[in-house]
Amino acid sequence: MNADEYKGYVGVFDSGVGGISILRELVRELPNERFVYFGDSANAPYGEKTTHEVRALSFDIARELHKAGCKAIVIACNTATSAAAAELRSEFDDIPIVGVEPALKPAVLAERNGRVLVMATPMTVRLEKFQDLLREWGSKADVVSVPCEGLAARIEKGHLDAPDVIELLRSLVGSYAGNVDAVVLGCTHYPFVAPQIRAVLGDVPFFTSGEGTARQLRRLLESGGKLNPKNTQGSVHFASSRDTVEELELYQRMYECGDTLV
Ligand code: DGL
Repeated sequence: MNADEYKGYVGVFDSGVGGISILRELVRELPNERFVYFGDSANAPYGEKTTHEVRALSFDIARELHKAGCKAIVIACNTATSAAAAELRSEFDDIPIVGVEPALKPAVLAERNGRVLVMATPMTVRLEKFQDLLREWGSKADVVSVPCEGLAARIEKGHLDAPDVIELLRSLVGSYAGNVDAVVLGCTHYPFVAPQIRAVLGDVPFFTSGEGTARQLRRLLESGGKLNPKNTQGSVHFASSRDTVEELELYQRMYECGDTLV
């Protein structure tokens, strides 16, 4: 990205396609903003790397977005938020940086005393940020967290109707079928396989992070006087570390496939 290429844009990033599920909510909440979405598909999945690696990758991306003139950054990735949000905020302290976290609180409040299944990457489940959340809310419901190894990587490949997706989900969470009251999709990739998760687990409510993240971004832009005026034409621009036509077409398709999201 060139210096000032995205001046005044909101920069959004994830390890790959997952953050597009957040981007859609951002656009819905803030239709007059310009967004640049960066997917680090060449380095996905993040959730099975070391914390140090994910922090370094997140810094590289945030530095580029900052240099390109973004007025705010959304870390549309639970894993990168857990690994790097605090450090990114202190390094790039002149712009708001919004992270995402698994929507455990709303799920527990809605399903008090019920069983809540949290699906997230191995790193998200392991790190302190989620463990803190669990300490705060875990006693108010029967919370089970499942590290879903391999799921984000499989979603990166597209073709989500293929039977192997259901097989993978069965091996990860099939033992909870008919036995949970709510599911927290604690990785931004997972809303793209919401119908497949339902096919395995039954018709349970899903809790995701997009709406809360979008409201938080609105609050921060508003309080900093950085919200675009209502007559600004909003836009979305995609970029990827796997910079091929096919990849960018996949991003566009995932952005447009509204009916398959939660
Ligand atoms: N979409 C990301 C998340 O929310 C990361 C998935 C991955 O790359 O492992 O955690």
